[in-house]
Amino acid sequence: MELAMNYEVFDTPQEAAKKLAAEVAQLIRSRAAEGKGVVFGLATGATPLPFYAELIRLHKEEGLSFANVTSFNLDEYTGLPHEHKESYWYFMHHNLFDHIDIKPENVNLPCGTLAPDEIPAHCAAYEAKIKACGGLDLQILGIGRTGHIGFNEPGSDDKTITRQVTLDDLTKTDAAPAFGGFDNVPKTAITMGVATIMGAKKVRLMAWGEKKASIVKKAIQGPVTADVAASFLQKHPDAVFFLDKPAASEL
Ligand code: F6R
Repeated sequence: MELAMNYEVFDTPQEAAKKLAAEVAQLIRSRAAEGKGVVFGLATGATPLPFYAELIRLHKEEGLSFANVTSFNLDEYTGLPHEHKESYWYFMHHNLFDHIDIKPENVNLPCGTLAPDEIPAHCAAYEAKIKACGGLDLQILGIGRTGHIGFNEPGSDDKTITRQVTLDDLTKTDAAPAFGGFDNVPKTAITMGVATIMGAKKVRLMAWGEKKASIVKKAIQGPVTADVAASFLQKHPDAVFFLDKPAASEL
Protein backbone atom coordinates (compact mmCIF):
# COMPACT_ATOMS: atom_id res chain seq x y z
CA MET A 1 0.00 0.00 0.00
CA GLU A 2 1.32 3.40 -0.99
CA LEU A 3 1.19 5.77 1.98
CA ALA A 4 0.55 9.41 1.17
CA MET A 5 -0.81 11.98 3.57
CA ASN A 6 -3.21 14.52 2.13
CA TYR A 7 -2.47 18.10 3.06
CA GLU A 8 -3.61 21.56 2.05
CA VAL A 9 -1.62 24.76 2.45
CA PHE A 10 -3.34 28.10 3.14
CA ASP A 11 -2.11 31.69 3.31
CA THR A 12 -3.41 32.12 6.87
CA PRO A 13 -4.74 29.97 9.73
CA GLN A 14 -8.04 31.88 9.39
CA GLU A 15 -8.50 30.72 5.80
CA ALA A 16 -7.73 27.13 6.74
CA ALA A 17 -10.04 27.30 9.75
CA LYS A 18 -12.84 28.71 7.60
CA LYS A 19 -12.58 25.86 5.11
CA LEU A 20 -12.51 23.22 7.85
CA ALA A 21 -15.44 24.84 9.68
CA ALA A 22 -17.42 24.82 6.40
CA GLU A 23 -16.77 21.07 6.06
CA VAL A 24 -17.88 20.49 9.65
CA ALA A 25 -21.00 22.65 9.17
CA GLN A 26 -21.92 20.70 6.05
CA LEU A 27 -21.61 17.42 7.97
CA ILE A 28 -23.76 18.75 10.84
CA ARG A 29 -26.43 20.04 8.45
CA SER A 30 -26.58 16.94 6.26
CA ARG A 31 -26.99 14.72 9.33
CA ALA A 32 -29.63 17.04 10.79
CA ALA A 33 -31.54 16.88 7.49
CA GLU A 34 -31.66 13.09 7.90
CA GLY A 35 -32.76 13.46 11.52
CA LYS A 36 -29.43 12.05 12.69
CA GLY A 37 -26.66 13.10 15.06
CA VAL A 38 -22.95 13.56 14.44
CA VAL A 39 -20.02 12.76 16.73
CA PHE A 40 -16.91 14.95 16.80
CA GLY A 41 -13.59 14.44 18.52
CA LEU A 42 -12.25 17.82 19.62
CA ALA A 43 -8.85 19.28 20.50
CA THR A 44 -7.72 22.15 22.70
CA GLY A 45 -4.62 24.38 22.49
CA ALA A 46 -3.86 27.53 20.51
CA THR A 47 -4.24 25.86 17.12
CA PRO A 48 -8.02 25.29 16.95
CA LEU A 49 -8.93 28.78 18.25
CA PRO A 50 -9.61 30.30 14.80
CA PHE A 51 -11.61 27.18 13.91
CA TYR A 52 -13.76 27.46 17.04
CA ALA A 53 -14.20 31.20 16.41
CA GLU A 54 -15.52 30.39 12.95
CA LEU A 55 -17.91 27.72 14.31
CA ILE A 56 -19.26 30.31 16.77
CA ARG A 57 -19.69 32.81 13.93
CA LEU A 58 -21.55 30.21 11.86
CA HIS A 59 -23.84 29.57 14.84
CA LYS A 60 -24.51 33.23 15.61
CA GLU A 61 -24.65 34.66 12.08
CA GLU A 62 -25.71 31.75 9.90
CA GLY A 63 -27.96 29.78 12.22
CA LEU A 64 -25.78 26.65 12.41
CA SER A 65 -27.23 24.52 15.21
CA PHE A 66 -25.15 22.08 17.25
CA ALA A 67 -28.24 20.47 18.78
CA ASN A 68 -27.49 17.17 17.03
CA VAL A 69 -23.76 17.18 17.93
CA THR A 70 -22.04 14.94 20.47
CA SER A 71 -18.42 15.75 21.31
CA PHE A 72 -15.55 13.86 22.88
CA ASN A 73 -12.42 15.77 23.76
CA LEU A 74 -9.07 14.17 23.16
CA ASP A 75 -7.52 14.76 26.53
CA GLU A 76 -7.41 16.45 29.93
CA TYR A 77 -4.63 17.18 32.41
CA THR A 78 -4.84 15.24 35.65
CA GLY A 79 -5.25 17.21 38.85
CA LEU A 80 -7.00 20.29 37.44
CA PRO A 81 -10.59 21.04 38.50
CA HIS A 82 -13.05 22.38 35.89
CA GLU A 83 -12.64 25.98 37.05
CA HIS A 84 -8.85 25.92 36.58
CA LYS A 85 -8.15 28.18 33.61
CA GLU A 86 -5.69 25.69 32.09
CA SER A 87 -8.07 22.74 32.36
CA TYR A 88 -9.36 21.58 29.01
CA TRP A 89 -12.89 21.58 30.45
CA TYR A 90 -12.54 25.31 31.07
CA PHE A 91 -10.92 25.87 27.66
CA MET A 92 -13.70 24.12 25.75
CA HIS A 93 -16.51 25.88 27.58
CA HIS A 94 -14.84 29.28 27.38
CA ASN A 95 -13.82 29.00 23.71
CA LEU A 96 -16.69 27.02 22.21
CA PHE A 97 -19.45 25.34 24.22
CA ASP A 98 -20.69 28.46 26.08
CA HIS A 99 -21.27 30.19 22.73
CA ILE A 100 -23.17 27.52 20.80
CA ASP A 101 -26.29 25.41 21.39
CA ILE A 102 -24.61 22.05 21.99
CA LYS A 103 -26.51 20.15 24.70
CA PRO A 104 -24.43 19.92 27.92
CA GLU A 105 -25.30 16.24 28.21
CA ASN A 106 -23.71 15.62 24.78
CA VAL A 107 -20.33 17.06 25.84
CA ASN A 108 -17.68 14.58 26.96
CA LEU A 109 -14.19 15.22 28.31
CA PRO A 110 -11.92 12.89 30.24
CA CYS A 111 -12.16 13.70 33.95
CA GLY A 112 -8.94 15.08 35.39
CA THR A 113 -9.81 14.92 39.07
CA LEU A 114 -10.30 11.22 39.76
CA ALA A 115 -8.42 9.21 42.35
CA PRO A 116 -5.64 7.17 40.71
CA ASP A 117 -7.49 3.89 41.24
CA GLU A 118 -10.59 5.25 39.47
CA ILE A 119 -8.75 6.25 36.30
CA PRO A 120 -8.53 2.89 34.44
CA ALA A 121 -12.30 2.29 34.68
CA HIS A 122 -12.97 5.89 33.61
CA CYS A 123 -10.75 5.45 30.54
CA ALA A 124 -12.47 2.18 29.61
CA ALA A 125 -15.88 3.85 30.01
CA TYR A 126 -14.75 6.76 27.78
CA GLU A 127 -13.78 4.31 25.01
CA ALA A 128 -17.03 2.40 25.47
CA LYS A 129 -19.11 5.60 25.27
CA ILE A 130 -17.43 6.63 22.00
CA LYS A 131 -18.34 3.21 20.56
CA ALA A 132 -21.88 3.36 21.96
CA CYS A 133 -22.37 6.71 20.19
CA GLY A 134 -21.44 5.03 16.89
CA GLY A 135 -17.77 6.08 16.84
CA LEU A 136 -16.18 9.40 15.93
CA ASP A 137 -17.39 10.80 12.62
CA LEU A 138 -14.66 13.42 12.51
CA GLN A 139 -11.67 13.99 14.76
CA ILE A 140 -10.10 17.46 15.02
CA LEU A 141 -6.40 17.50 15.92
CA GLY A 142 -3.46 19.78 16.54
CA ILE A 143 0.10 18.45 16.72
CA GLY A 144 2.67 18.93 19.46
CA ARG A 145 6.37 19.43 18.80
CA THR A 146 6.96 15.86 20.02
CA GLY A 147 4.66 14.68 17.21
CA HIS A 148 1.91 13.97 19.71
CA ILE A 149 -1.75 13.90 18.72
CA GLY A 150 -3.86 14.09 21.83
CA PHE A 151 -1.16 13.50 24.44
CA ASN A 152 0.23 10.44 22.67
CA GLU A 153 3.87 11.17 23.31
CA PRO A 154 6.79 9.36 21.63
CA GLY A 155 6.48 5.63 22.30
CA SER A 156 2.69 5.60 21.82
CA ASP A 157 1.92 2.94 19.23
CA ASP A 158 -1.17 2.41 17.12
CA LYS A 159 -2.68 -0.04 19.61
CA THR A 160 -3.01 2.59 22.36
CA ILE A 161 -6.47 3.56 23.61
CA THR A 162 -7.70 6.02 26.26
CA ARG A 163 -5.34 5.93 29.26
CA GLN A 164 -3.26 7.98 31.66
CA VAL A 165 0.06 9.11 30.21
CA THR A 166 3.18 10.95 31.38
CA LEU A 167 3.81 14.21 29.53
CA ASP A 168 7.06 14.62 27.61
CA ASP A 169 9.48 17.32 28.84
CA LEU A 170 9.16 19.22 25.52
CA THR A 171 5.37 19.25 25.93
CA LYS A 172 5.75 20.57 29.50
CA THR A 173 8.23 23.20 28.27
CA ASP A 174 5.70 24.40 25.69
CA ALA A 175 2.97 24.51 28.35
CA ALA A 176 5.17 26.13 31.03
CA PRO A 177 4.35 29.81 30.27
CA ALA A 178 0.61 29.15 30.70
CA PHE A 179 1.25 27.48 34.07
CA GLY A 180 3.79 30.04 35.29
CA GLY A 181 6.71 27.61 35.08
CA PHE A 182 7.73 24.08 34.05
CA ASP A 183 7.31 22.65 37.55
CA ASN A 184 3.66 23.75 37.71
CA VAL A 185 2.68 21.83 34.56
CA PRO A 186 0.76 18.64 35.42
CA LYS A 187 2.99 15.60 34.98
CA THR A 188 0.28 13.36 33.58
CA ALA A 189 -2.89 13.54 31.53
CA ILE A 190 -5.67 11.30 30.31
CA THR A 191 -5.72 11.00 26.53
CA MET A 192 -7.47 9.07 23.81
CA GLY A 193 -5.00 6.67 22.23
CA VAL A 194 -3.66 6.49 18.69
CA ALA A 195 -6.07 3.61 18.00
CA THR A 196 -9.00 5.70 19.29
CA ILE A 197 -8.05 8.53 16.91
CA MET A 198 -7.41 6.15 14.00
CA GLY A 199 -10.91 4.78 14.54
CA ALA A 200 -12.46 8.12 13.53
CA LYS A 201 -14.04 8.07 10.08
CA LYS A 202 -12.35 11.37 9.16
CA VAL A 203 -9.35 13.07 10.75
CA ARG A 204 -8.49 16.75 10.24
CA LEU A 205 -5.25 18.05 11.74
CA MET A 206 -4.38 21.75 11.85
CA ALA A 207 -0.87 23.19 12.29
CA TRP A 208 0.31 26.78 12.10
CA GLY A 209 3.67 28.50 12.25
CA GLU A 210 7.32 27.76 11.66
CA LYS A 211 7.71 26.08 15.08
CA LYS A 212 5.62 23.17 13.77
CA ALA A 213 7.37 22.87 10.36
CA SER A 214 9.90 20.15 11.23
CA ILE A 215 7.42 17.90 13.08
CA VAL A 216 4.85 18.38 10.30
CA LYS A 217 7.47 17.17 7.82
CA LYS A 218 8.22 14.11 9.96
CA ALA A 219 4.52 13.32 10.35
CA ILE A 220 3.75 13.64 6.64
CA GLN A 221 6.96 12.50 4.95
CA GLY A 222 8.83 10.54 7.61
CA PRO A 223 8.54 6.87 8.50
CA VAL A 224 5.40 5.62 10.26
CA THR A 225 6.66 5.19 13.81
CA ALA A 226 5.59 5.35 17.44
CA ASP A 227 8.35 7.97 17.82
CA VAL A 228 5.99 10.40 16.02
CA ALA A 229 2.39 9.47 16.83
CA ALA A 230 1.00 11.73 14.09
CA SER A 231 2.87 9.65 11.47
CA PHE A 232 0.30 6.87 11.97
CA LEU A 233 -2.19 9.15 10.20
CA GLN A 234 -0.38 8.26 6.95
CA LYS A 235 -2.26 4.95 7.26
CA HIS A 236 -5.67 6.57 7.82
CA PRO A 237 -8.01 6.39 4.78
CA ASP A 238 -9.37 9.94 5.25
CA ALA A 239 -6.89 12.17 7.08
CA VAL A 240 -6.05 15.70 5.90
CA PHE A 241 -3.54 18.18 7.33
CA PHE A 242 -4.62 21.84 7.15
CA LEU A 243 -1.43 23.92 7.20
CA ASP A 244 -0.44 27.54 6.89
CA LYS A 245 2.59 28.38 4.74
CA PRO A 246 5.17 28.50 7.60
CA ALA A 247 4.03 25.10 8.96
CA ALA A 248 4.33 23.65 5.43
CA SER A 249 7.71 25.28 4.74
CA GLU A 250 9.81 22.10 5.11
CA LEU A 251 7.63 19.88 2.92
C1 F6R B 1 -4.89 19.30 22.70
C2 F6R B 1 -4.00 18.23 22.25
C3 F6R B 1 -2.61 18.50 21.79
C4 F6R B 1 -2.43 19.82 21.03
C5 F6R B 1 -0.98 20.05 20.68
C6 F6R B 1 -0.75 21.37 19.98
O1 F6R B 1 -6.15 18.79 23.06
O2 F6R B 1 -4.39 17.11 22.30
O3 F6R B 1 -2.20 17.42 20.98
O4 F6R B 1 -3.21 19.78 19.87
O5 F6R B 1 -0.20 20.00 21.85
O6 F6R B 1 -1.01 22.41 20.87
P1 F6R B 1 -1.07 23.92 20.36
O7 F6R B 1 -2.28 23.98 19.47
O8 F6R B 1 -1.28 24.73 21.59
O9 F6R B 1 0.18 24.19 19.62
